Amino acid sequence: MSKKILRALLSLCTASLVFAGSVSAGEPHMKTDTDFYPYSPSLIKWDKSKADFNAPETCGECHPDQYEEWTASMHALAFKDPVYQGELNAAIKAVGHDIAKQCEGCHTPAAVVKGEIKGAGLTGLTPLAMAGVSCDVCHSISCHTHWQTPYHQPENGSFILSPGKNTEDGPVLTKYGPFTPEEGCGEDFHECVESPLHLTSELCASCHQVFHYKTHTPLEATYMEWKNSPYASNDIHCQDCHMVELDTFKRSADEMTRPKREEYRHYFNGANFLLYYLTELAAKKAGDEALAANAHSKFEMAVGRLQAAADVEVAPVYRDNKLAEIKVRVKNLRAGHNLPTSLTNVRQMWVEVTAKNSKGEIVMTTGTADAKGKLPENVRLLNSDGQNENFHFAIDPWEVQSFAKHDTIPPKGYKDLYYGISAEKGDPLSVEVKLRYRQADQKVAEKLLGLVPDDIHLDAIYGIKEVPILPVVDMVSKSVMINKADS
Ligand code: HEC
Ligand code: HEC
Ligand code: HEC
Ligand code: HEC
Ligand code: HEC
Repeated sequence: MSKKILRALLSLCTASLVFAGSVSAGEPHMKTDTDFYPYSPSLIKWDKSKADFNAPETCGECHPDQYEEWTASMHALAFKDPVYQGELNAAIKAVGHDIAKQCEGCHTPAAVVKGEIKGAGLTGLTPLAMAGVSCDVCHSISCHTHWQTPYHQPENGSFILSPGKNTEDGPVLTKYGPFTPEEGCGEDFHECVESPLHLTSELCASCHQVFHYKTHTPLEATYMEWKNSPYASNDIHCQDCHMVELDTFKRSADEMTRPKREEYRHYFNGANFLLYYLTELAAKKAGDEALAANAHSKFEMAVGRLQAAADVEVAPVYRDNKLAEIKVRVKNLRAGHNLPTSLTNVRQMWVEVTAKNSKGEIVMTTGTADAKGKLPENVRLLNSDGQNENFHFAIDPWEVQSFAKHDTIPPKGYKDLYYGISAEKGDPLSVEVKLRYRQADQKVAEKLLGLVPDDIHLDAIYGIKEVPILPVVDMVSKSVMINKADS
């Protein structure tokens, strides 16, 4: 373990020690202590003072580069995201308003502690609320309570927000960041606090683990996947792949070396090309060319990340001296967690295979979506299936109690898929294999976008009258000859 991480682990900030009195760490404690976690079911805490949060535009005046990079990022979109707003609306209808706090605690935390959010929708909210995971969320995080949570794991926003403190001369803003503060850091606007936490995955962990709001069953566990991977043991953190350019991310993944300080960027770029695509549509409709270009570059970056994540290998399997199966090995080359990760019961990754004989006739084909975006019933999706307590298929996070299957690929691991075929040995076949990815099943996307609250007009904002066939990205595309005469 590096000295830096060790320091981050040891830097149990005073705030958490002060608050920690009310829970007995070590005992099984599956019920949330609502005195300790007043915003439950979200586990965020607010170290309240007279110092207020600020909207990103204010920070952007002195930090224009970070502002530009963060703009149109998934963190900037986390609250406005229409797919999120649709599901939030459904959650409130199904469970009641209380569950909204769990969601908002990660999708717009500052607005939750300030009591601004009353439900789904965007009307009448401040720029701070709209800004989702904004500058002043991350840079007010003074420490985390990962060990005090019911499950003793980071989950559901288990960090402490300390935007500032009271002093004799009035409130002072405190911003936590990577540097040892120099004279004049923050000018007259804020004090700077060196925070080893900001250099590690533990900063991201509290939000990138979504646990069931009541039972605390892990529904999304990107941090744990990372923690149990060779990346964690080699000191490669979330920031090293998601807060850098594509080439730098590849270097982090391949060489297991951390980027230099000046290489970090506020992109938070992952896989969600669909949201960047929608954001570009909205920006163009509003006549904001700069925002459209920004969203477009993030779209290309997300596609680039997906296309660098995996590889496929194709091999023939013989039985009784005949070709019996095609084996497709899908490798997770560069995702620092399972592939796919996070919302794995919604995301879709699958293999499309087409084999042709020497006459060019198709002898086998599988995994092709039809014109309406529907996949064949028998497609093997590399993702997960959630289920409710009666073992019935379920998608919504308040319903999912366990998983019927978890078929994702661990970091630096692989999965072998077999496709039955029958051919005499030596009758050559050309096999085309594609590893494909999309954000959701067509019907699921249509359902969620159909549930957006009344003040989000998809036509007025995005210019879409009905949900288009969802775009698919080919992560890998390969053509190989197998079963040749000399094989
Ligand atoms: C612990 C933090 C956390 C909580 C709590 C949380 N989310 Fe999320 N949510 C995330 C993260 C992180 C992602 C991104 C995952 C990914 O891209 O795969 C996400 C993604 C989503 C998406 C997909 C958006 C898209 O554009 O594809 C939806 C929908 C969503 N959340 C809805 C909800 C709802 C509704 C709730 C409350 C019931 C909720 N979330 C609670 C962190 C959280
Ligand atoms: C999701 C959390 C997150 C958000 C949101 C965020 N930052 Fe950061 N920021 C970080 C991390 C992590 C680092 C440290 C990166 C490193 O190791 O250099 C950082 C570093 C910085 C630094 C130090 C210089 C640098 O770029 O490394 C500044 C200044 C900064 N952020 C300002 C901002 C501003 C302004 C915004 C909003 C426009 C913002 N941040 C949004 C996490 C965040
Ligand atoms: C009046 C100008 C000004 C404003 C407004 C401002 N900052 Fe800064 N900030 C600075 C200066 C100057 C530094 C010194 C280092 C640098 O230039 O990045 C700094 C440094 C930082 C650092 C690095 C601290 C460290 O120790 O690593 C972070 C993080 C940061 N600012 C976040 C923010 C956030 C978040 C906001 C909005 C709430 C904000 N700043 C608003 C001037 C400002
Ligand atoms: C306050 C909660 C919070 C923190 C802290 C946070 N995130 Fe996120 N992050 C989210 C939410 C919410 C989303 C999803 C927004 C959506 O899909 O609507 C997200 C989305 C992302 C995505 C985009 C995923 C995709 O599908 O493209 C990446 C990458 C990401 N976060 C990386 C990070 C990293 C790296 C850190 C730590 C430096 C971090 N996050 C810290 C809440 C958070
Ligand atoms: C070694 C590089 C690497 C590291 C380290 C890494 N990631 Fe990723 N991440 C990727 C790649 C590549 C993708 C795109 C493929 C995919 O979706 O998994 C991705 C995708 C994601 C997504 C979007 C998943 C989806 O399909 O919607 C989220 C969210 C995310 N990462 C969060 C994190 C968090 C949080 C951490 C730290 C705990 C982290 N990542 C560490 C490389 C990395």
